[in-house]
Amino acid sequence: MASFALGQRSYGEVYEQIYRQHPELRYVGFYRLFNEPAILVRDQRLVREVLVGSSFLNCADNAVNVDAQRDVLATCNPFIASGDRWRILRADLVPLFTPSRLRQTLPHVAAACQQLQEFVGRRLTGERFEAKALATRYTLQVIASAVFGLDAHCLCYDEDQEKGSQWLQRLLPLFQPSAWSLLETIALLHSSRLANILQHRYVPLSLQDWLCALVRARSGANNFLHWLGDKQGEQGDLAGHATTLLLEGYETSAMLLAFALYELSRNESAQRRVQTELEEVAQRHGGLLVGHAALAELRYAEAALLETLRLHPAMQALQKRCTKSFTLPPQRSDTDTAVGSHGSIQVALGTVLVLPVQAIHMDPNLYSDPLKFQPERFMDTSPMGCRFLGFGAGPRMCPGMRLGLAQTKAALVTLLRDYSFSLADQAQDPVQVSPLTFLTASKHGIWLQLQKR
Ligand code: HEM
Repeated sequence: MASFALGQRSYGEVYEQIYRQHPELRYVGFYRLFNEPAILVRDQRLVREVLVGSSFLNCADNAVNVDAQRDVLATCNPFIASGDRWRILRADLVPLFTPSRLRQTLPHVAAACQQLQEFVGRRLTGERFEAKALATRYTLQVIASAVFGLDAHCLCYDEDQEKGSQWLQRLLPLFQPSAWSLLETIALLHSSRLANILQHRYVPLSLQDWLCALVRARSGANNFLHWLGDKQGEQGDLAGHATTLLLEGYETSAMLLAFALYELSRNESAQRRVQTELEEVAQRHGGLLVGHAALAELRYAEAALLETLRLHPAMQALQKRCTKSFTLPPQRSDTDTAVGSHGSIQVALGTVLVLPVQAIHMDPNLYSDPLKFQPERFMDTSPMGCRFLGFGAGPRMCPGMRLGLAQTKAALVTLLRDYSFSLADQAQDPVQVSPLTFLTASKHGIWLQLQKR
């Protein structure tokens, strides 16, 4: 793990190496940073057992270090909360993501897609552009509107109008790789002591007051805060939930959109297939793509997004903490029948269990030709289960999955309807992943070119 601490390899790569080195084992004991003993789970049945099955309750908490005093808004995030508090916070949010709420959210997505189309038409044509920055403008526009009922001014075709956008100024740089982001990742995942020294905050101090002001400025009725506000009296909780919806809602989808454009740029036939599909669907729906029925019919586009997430998962590993000691079967499956339960181990309280998402997604026993971009893999089979962990699995699985996929798919087909995309230079093939961030990011950006169709 030293290479991760030195900023040489991402944590996903480190875990992938451990995973590959022990093909005969169900799980591997190793030391995380600061000599902390941990268990990397390899076997699919055990992965399922930990995330979904009877062991879930023994390791339900995410292994993250967040200080409740310093980071009041972050403690309302189910990803960070533990025990009963997690259950309550998650139960508040889940009703926002029912199919009927998703339909009610689509007008926000459709409006942002129209702005995206105008923005690209006026400000990008003919130029090289950085896809992640464009994607972030779009997802911020959707989330500002869908969560708060506000216009973030992130996709103005008039540059002067956009200058005042606090959203861009405050949130565009937030997840960018830097030496500081590496320290923050180490503090978040490995060391509460380092977190205290750095005074690390999951929600930066500079954002906290601004977020509370946004909650006060919210407007309109057809948005998440309005739906939450109906049953939530406390301003504190509402600001906490707003923070969760904003921070969880924009970065992961922006990353997915940028990487999908990247993969389609280097896989022309897949790009053409998305375009053919969207034309057929548009024809069936009077030219409209961003509606509930049309989006549901864009199956290849959705498969392309899932395949993108397989290759570039937002979280390269899920890390859970044992909250109640439990037993794992013997490390080697061939010892089961020979010696009964001899060799099983007792997982000690506090031990971190690593579910190595990237390693699983790249395992040739689970995906043939794993380096190849093949959306067809997800056309006929359900992506769920534990060989695909792009959204996690089980009771802690991402509740925003459907919204994340819908907003990303809507933008993808809006862009591909008018333009074809290609890599701006071949040096970024394959793209390099930054070793400095918790959420996956490219090291030097994703530079593309577009051509009017
Ligand atoms: C493509 C977009 C997205 C991706 C790839 C993604 C991925 C993930 C992953 C991997 C987790 C961790 C699951 C686990 O611990 O097992 C997660 C959790 C979560 N996500 Fe997402 N997410 C996306 C979009 C969203 C959106 C749009 C929202 C809300 C607006 C959201 C809200 C959450 C929340 C609240 C959690 C914590 C759940 C819990 O611990 O109970 N996500 N997401």
